[in-house]
Amino acid sequence: MGIQAWERRVPVAAPEIDGRGELETRPSILPLQIPPNPPLQKRGRGDSWDELQAQVAACTACALHKGRTQTVFGIGSHHQAQWMIIGEAPGVDEDRQGEPFVGRAGKLLNAMLLAIGLKREEVYIANVVKCRPPNNRDPLPEEAAACEAYLKRQIALLQPKVILVVGRIAAHNLLKTDSALGALRGKQFSYADTGIPVVVTYHPAYLLRSPREKRKAWEDLQFARRVFSEEK
Ligand code: URA
Ligand code: SF4
Repeated sequence: MGIQAWERRVPVAAPEIDGRGELETRPSILPLQIPPNPPLQKRGRGDSWDELQAQVAACTACALHKGRTQTVFGIGSHHQAQWMIIGEAPGVDEDRQGEPFVGRAGKLLNAMLLAIGLKREEVYIANVVKCRPPNNRDPLPEEAAACEAYLKRQIALLQPKVILVVGRIAAHNLLKTDSALGALRGKQFSYADTGIPVVVTYHPAYLLRSPREKRKAWEDLQFARRVFSEEK
């Protein structure tokens, strides 16, 4: 999980403990009082992510909380990802595992990312809603609205160079439009008032049903890569 990856990178207090142990063997030197957690490191970027994830895990702001096994917050390199991928909602596999895009659609998404040289671990993946809608129905507008602040905060914390939005539902929610997906492809939008570029492509679950559209998705990914490389 992303949070665990972050925790592994947190500087550990071990050197200070070692240092103090050494001082104890030489009593003539005054023991130094080294705080195990320097206050300046207490509130890092990771804390904000941890707090946000905890808020989501406890959220009951819309009816979707009733049917979830667990919330599906997001996954990836949240302190350095330059790409953010946004889907619609957790499905049955995601609800079970607590991670977005782990089912069949997720496997195709991984392959799509690899096609433009991105490993799943290098990007950050999230959904418009964090809880699974019953019977995999589309999230309702009021559910997406109730969940919106979390995604907004994830984007603000991550500051990705480009957002790749997969599928009609996610595109409609992010871009506040009801245009057909075909009309949203191949264009560069920006997210709300942030100036962060947004590129839209087909949802991998749709591509599994309509494999002939994969060629168009490939074009979209190439376009997204161009948009990315033009960002400073
Ligand atoms: N479809 C989505 O939109 N998101 C997931 O996490 C899984 C499938
Ligand atoms: Fe809260 Fe979002 Fe889950 Fe609704 S979908 S309960 S708003 S976390």
